[in-house]
Amino acid sequence: MLVATTIKEVKEQVRQWKKEGLTIGLVPTMGYLHEGHASLIKRAVLENDRVIVSDFVNPIQFGPKEDLGTYPRDFDADCKLCSDLGTDLIFHPEPSEMYAPDFHSYVGVDTLSTELCGKSRPIHFNGVCTVVSKLFNISEADRAYFGQKDAQQLAIVKRMVRDLNFNIEIVGCPIIRENDGLAKSSRNTYLSKEAREKATILHKALEKGEAMVRSGEKDANKVVSSISNIIESEPLAKIDYVEVVDWNELQKTDVIDGPILTAVAVYIDNVRLIDNFIVE
Ligand code: PAJ
Repeated sequence: MLVATTIKEVKEQVRQWKKEGLTIGLVPTMGYLHEGHASLIKRAVLENDRVIVSDFVNPIQFGPKEDLGTYPRDFDADCKLCSDLGTDLIFHPEPSEMYAPDFHSYVGVDTLSTELCGKSRPIHFNGVCTVVSKLFNISEADRAYFGQKDAQQLAIVKRMVRDLNFNIEIVGCPIIRENDGLAKSSRNTYLSKEAREKATILHKALEKGEAMVRSGEKDANKVVSSISNIIESEPLAKIDYVEVVDWNELQKTDVIDGPILTAVAVYIDNVRLIDNFIVE
């Protein structure tokens, strides 16, 4: 596995692969890789001749009061996992390699980016779209893999690719969970032992909500109330949002009559966790 820290190195390797007619899969990550990331990498290895994993904590998607400084990192472990899974190149740039001091260009998807997590994280998705656009251009990948864990991100990246005619296929992959249902996340390491136990409330509440929708409940507000009540029964939990939105425009919906995303963001002992389910 090649370890590249500069854009030039990646581009040279990509040029070579393209000359040989090989297809390229890209898995964008912020590192501290777990089985959720691994599921994306495995799928990329299956579906492409060559796989690039980017491992970059992207500073421009973090707000001033967010956890950029403390975001967990373990590049050696990431390299081992990527190499074991058959990754061909891991791209691990410094922020200065991605953002020159005179960097001025940003990519954004309006409307979809201001809903759900966008309400409390106003610059987040523009930071994501900008770095993802750069990674698409650097890697010239045929396919890029994103988890449904970050459903809003997946919807926004898909829309950006469609709207701006990027030559890449976006592949959405299912949420990988711990045995007790908690969605795997690099940020789960922030949870104390007690908070980790209580964090299962998100999945429990969403399971109830999903069962309601699948058994024919059409009133989105009833689904939201049921999920909120379960989460609020846990004293350590503080809801940021619980919403049912349509899965195309991410707009709040009262009546469930098409594909929907039900998404939650909850602070457990001050650690912000997200989870969701989609009913197509
Ligand atoms: P990160 O949080 O590292 O996630 C990288 C990818 O792994 C995302 O597509 C995310 O949805 C997926 N993922 C994380 N946990 C998962 C789980 N439990 N099951 C399935 N997939 C999971 O998302 C980002 O990084 C960044 O915003 C990025 C796209 C790399 C841009 O900086």
